[in-house]
Amino acid sequence: MGTARTGHGPRVEPVRIGLIGCGKISAAYLQAAPSYPVLDIVACADIDRPAAARVAAESGLQAMDVDALLACGDIEAILNLTVPAAHAPVNLAALQAGKHVYCEKPFAVDPAAGAAVMAAARERGLRVGSAPDTFLGAGHQTVRALVDAGRIGRVVAATAIWLGHGHEGWHPSPAFYYAPGGGPHFDMAPYYLTALVHALGPVRAVTAMAGRAFDTRTVGSGPDAGTTVPVQVSTHLSGAIELVSGCIVTIALSYDVWRHSNPRFELHGTAGSISAPDPNGFGGPVRVADPGAEWTEAPLGAGPTRNARSIGLADLCIGLRTGAPHRCNGELAQHVLEVMDALDRSAEQRSQVTIDSRPERPAPLPERPAPLPEGPASLPERPAPARTDWPERLRERSLPRRAHVVEPAPRLSGAAGEDPVVPGSQHEQEPLPQVLLGGRAAGGDAGKAAQLQTDVTDLKLHARLRRPIH
Ligand SMILES: NC(=O)c1ccc[n+]([C@@H]2O[C@H](COP(=O)([O-])OP(=O)(O)OC[C@H]3O[C@@H](n4cnc5c(N)ncnc54)[C@H](O)[C@@H]3O)[C@@H](O)[C@H]2O)c1
Repeated sequence: MGTARTGHGPRVEPVRIGLIGCGKISAAYLQAAPSYPVLDIVACADIDRPAAARVAAESGLQAMDVDALLACGDIEAILNLTVPAAHAPVNLAALQAGKHVYCEKPFAVDPAAGAAVMAAARERGLRVGSAPDTFLGAGHQTVRALVDAGRIGRVVAATAIWLGHGHEGWHPSPAFYYAPGGGPHFDMAPYYLTALVHALGPVRAVTAMAGRAFDTRTVGSGPDAGTTVPVQVSTHLSGAIELVSGCIVTIALSYDVWRHSNPRFELHGTAGSISAPDPNGFGGPVRVADPGAEWTEAPLGAGPTRNARSIGLADLCIGLRTGAPHRCNGELAQHVLEVMDALDRSAEQRSQVTIDSRPERPAPLPERPAPLPEGPASLPERPAPARTDWPERLRERSLPRRAHVVEPAPRLSGAAGEDPVVPGSQHEQEPLPQVLLGGRAAGGDAGKAAQLQTDVTDLKLHARLRRPIH
């Protein structure tokens, strides 16, 4: 087993990961994960065995049955990319098998299921993480830095608006978007709510109204094209959210809107306003307006600017190796789930719903990457790849490279890793940036801080570390 270097020299052993759920979003994870040398995704499984076999063949993973993967002693953590209804059951099964787990959003279809996952993890001393990790992108890290620096004063108001016409036009199996755990408030709200809590702190109360324009949706692509799926959830929701800080947020989420021209996400303070980027992406632009002045674009700070789905999992894995807390953690995801559920309940009951949980804001990424150590000492020579049967993409990644030569990552292609969007949004394709993940220990324990410098040199070395699982 090789080791991954960190920005300060120490090495960490990559975490061997089994992926469960080989659908659409798995491609985005498998494209971005090799940028984080702490991640070693080795196997995949799906209740749809051909799906697992396909992803295994494309990505050089080992396809396994779900039970066999969970029982595999050589796998330390599970990446759960199943549909929302399976998130909590698969998370629980992973924890019961003694594995750490990171899952896609929403954390669960209801707060009780999420709480059961958290309890199981506590009982076993295991870690739980959850998407979204897009708030670790340069866009929302910059928003956070501006807020923390007091650039717009005390933040008193915000707007969070995602309006679209649902996902049946492009997703071949869109039923889960219209089943419990779906709807725009469980599917898209996690991006907005997580970015809000990251920037401004937790939610105290919500109130909402909700509706539904259609009782069925027609599948637009894939083998089921032309068939319909039932709509079991609200597909339009408008609400107000009060943060513990006192900030009042206007939120609107819809699958019933064909086109709109509202800004997605804005924060308004006593000394100015911030126009924040789409929290379903990693990049900018971030714009700031002083009182009475026009918007000006702020330079982006720490964090990736393009598809980096898996950065949250990498942060969790660094935490496993160093003891540092991870940012996309279960407490944060459970709080966001409680808010989504409260929006639903508020609309049903026509009353305000209070939220009791108070997660910490996740630590921001360090502003600047730590300098790389000089010379090749911290990266051992590793043997050339033995696998010649890997797909072209992995073989290219496995070519030997000089240690510490930082170069642009290969261009991403295919799934951009962002949830589909309303017209006008960009699925940008650009080199992955050099990223520093800093594990800042709770209570500012700088001695426990651990930083991981990733670059594509490590990416290629990481690819060479692959070995069969036992
Ligand atoms: N598709 C996207 O663009 C996108 C983007 C961001 C997040 N997400 C989230 O990722 C998750 C998956 O979305 P997707 O689009 O990849 O869905 P998908 O339907 O394409 O894939 C889900 C896969 O999970 C498998 N599965 C379901 N239950 C399972 C179980 N119990 N055990 C093992 N495998 C199981 C299915 O067979 C399927 O192959 C969802 O929660 C979604 O909200 C999707």
